[in-house]
Amino acid sequence: MDRYYVLGNPVEHSKSPYIHRFFADSLNDELSYESRLVPLDAFEQTVRQLMKENFSGCNITVPFKEQAYRIADVLTPRADLAGAVNTLKYDDGRLVGDNTDGEGLVQDLQRCDVSIEGARILVLGAGGAARGIIAPVLARKPSELVIANRTVSKAESLAEYMSSVAECDVRGMGFDVLSGRFDLIINATSSSITNVVPPLPEGVIDSSSCAYDLMYAPVDTVFVAYAKSKGAKAWDGLGMLVSQAAESYLLWRGVKPQTEELIMKLRREMQK
Ligand code: ATR
Repeated sequence: MDRYYVLGNPVEHSKSPYIHRFFADSLNDELSYESRLVPLDAFEQTVRQLMKENFSGCNITVPFKEQAYRIADVLTPRADLAGAVNTLKYDDGRLVGDNTDGEGLVQDLQRCDVSIEGARILVLGAGGAARGIIAPVLARKPSELVIANRTVSKAESLAEYMSSVAECDVRGMGFDVLSGRFDLIINATSSSITNVVPPLPEGVIDSSSCAYDLMYAPVDTVFVAYAKSKGAKAWDGLGMLVSQAAESYLLWRGVKPQTEELIMKLRREMQK
């Protein structure tokens, strides 16, 4: 039977085994999927061992996505741009590295009926999470993309880097100089973990905006709550979690599982 894993540290709270087993069941597909806690200094060694055991692939979570990027033999263009790998496929003796996070976000935005094409988009944050999602968003042709970050230089250099794959204007700046309203605001900062909303000037989000937090929680994240308080439609990242997993499944198995039912099921279970 084909064997898959999620590798991380910590990893015990990962929903990936549940998600992938659900996908396999729903498709009558046979595979095994387990989580594996990897010591912080033993990521590459663990993957090499799995290769010897002829595993089929794995997902990679914190803090190993950059290391996975470095050890992959081949990278998909989106993983190359992201500078991080969340999915490895072991294929013909080669490790193929992909990053499905951005496509997961784009697919979930589609599920939520949020259009990217022609939209004025604001990405909050310029760390690994932001870098992972920007290229697939740009591929859907927004009219403009602004990256705002607390450390302004990081926003500027990420914007310059992403300009190479953009057909629209991509700019980086601090929160304080943001102006005008945006159609879609994506929170890719880690600030929801500490219950902080990035300091956005008035008028950036209004009642016709859409907002998306890459983080998810049983109750509205502070960012989702803030956006709703401005009358905007807002979602957390649970749908993206399931959709990025569906994209990994597609890379591994050549079939894309349905996501809707699982997203609703996970939401109900989280709220219990
Ligand atoms: P990740 O891989 O989750 O993106 P990261 O690379 O450490 O993690 O980046 C965290 C992001 O959240 C950064 O953009 C960070 O801003 P700085 O670059 O200025 O550090 C942002 N961030 C974290 N806490 C924040 C807060 N309280 N307010 C605004 N931005 C915050």
